[in-house]
Amino acid sequence: MRVEVSLDVIENNVRKIKAWVGNSTGFTAIVKSNAYGHGSLKVADAAIRGGATHLGVSTVEEALSLREHYHDVPILVMSPFLASDAARIVRAGLTPYISNIGQIESLQVSGLSLSRRVTVHLEIDTGMGRSGCLPADYEAMLQSVQDCANIELTGIATHFSSAESDGDFTRAQLSTFQQLIRNGLYEDHANLVLHAANSAGSLLYPEARMDMIRPGLLMYGIWPCPIYEDFPTLTPAMEITARILHTHTPPEGWSVSYNRTFRTDGTKRFATIDAGYGDGYPRELSNKGYVLIHGQRAPIVGRVCMDVTVIDVTEIPHCVTGDTVTLIGENRSERIRTEDLAKWIGTTEHDITTRLTGRSPIKYQ
Ligand SMILES: Cc1ncc(COP(=O)(O)O)c(C=O)c1O
Repeated sequence: MRVEVSLDVIENNVRKIKAWVGNSTGFTAIVKSNAYGHGSLKVADAAIRGGATHLGVSTVEEALSLREHYHDVPILVMSPFLASDAARIVRAGLTPYISNIGQIESLQVSGLSLSRRVTVHLEIDTGMGRSGCLPADYEAMLQSVQDCANIELTGIATHFSSAESDGDFTRAQLSTFQQLIRNGLYEDHANLVLHAANSAGSLLYPEARMDMIRPGLLMYGIWPCPIYEDFPTLTPAMEITARILHTHTPPEGWSVSYNRTFRTDGTKRFATIDAGYGDGYPRELSNKGYVLIHGQRAPIVGRVCMDVTVIDVTEIPHCVTGDTVTLIGENRSERIRTEDLAKWIGTTEHDITTRLTGRSPIKYQ
């Protein structure tokens, strides 16, 4: 399997999103999980060239590897960190989200012992239910941050649970967030970056963009929800192809791949391609969806194996060993999008590209 990523496309997507939401709005490029499989360092470079102001990751490890290359860009560590990581966070000048008092205490201790200040963003759980302080604890959290001379609050964040699918709940989350901030100790929040919007939030709720957006999918040219006409055209940055390794025309009633989940009825021609779940091609695509060869659709048959997948090329008799097969991307006038694979197997778009295992190194254009 071959994975190609266009860094120019990512840079341009960032530029277009920024122009659309307003260039003064901050932009956290979400590059966690190896930039959704696209390669975090290369993507971070492209996003910063396009105008990203912050980088967003999940783990301290991810943040530290970015910090080696970007000395001045604020790097948000968006998943809760453990006290054992506080010293590394302070030393590297990372900006963690904080969800509980224990984290504030651990940063305070590390900050004092290293004689360093640390910047933090307070996360409020307005309904995501995985991290952040509860609304009832917000004021106490603010107070404890303010009580620590070496901790500087530079932002307040929340995260939407269903921005792509539930308008009422998203608006309720946003209203909880905005009310807390309006009523809270931080009435004067001119210097704080307030942020909430992932891709779907940025796209569908202009009022949720506030001081900064945090898009992942959109940057990669992937849509989290149906496309709205007034949105700029974004281009998918990733193309995935494979090659035909072998073709075969078995007798009628022959079974295909593990566990015999597909059997021929009539004469069929099959091609075996070099992509499997060992590359990150989802096993759930077994007997679902299709690939493109010479601009034509070839259905996936039988179980996706670790290294190979079998496709039905009965309708594409001229294809031969060595031909290129498009798994995600454009092939003549047809295109398969990451969104299609996500729909075929009932998952999110994030889950498709983050599955890439790196067996085939990414080729950058
Ligand atoms: C806290 C946070 N912000 C932003 C994002 C970006 O989400 P999306 O890729 O849907 O834009 C994520 C991704 O899961 C996230 O966890």
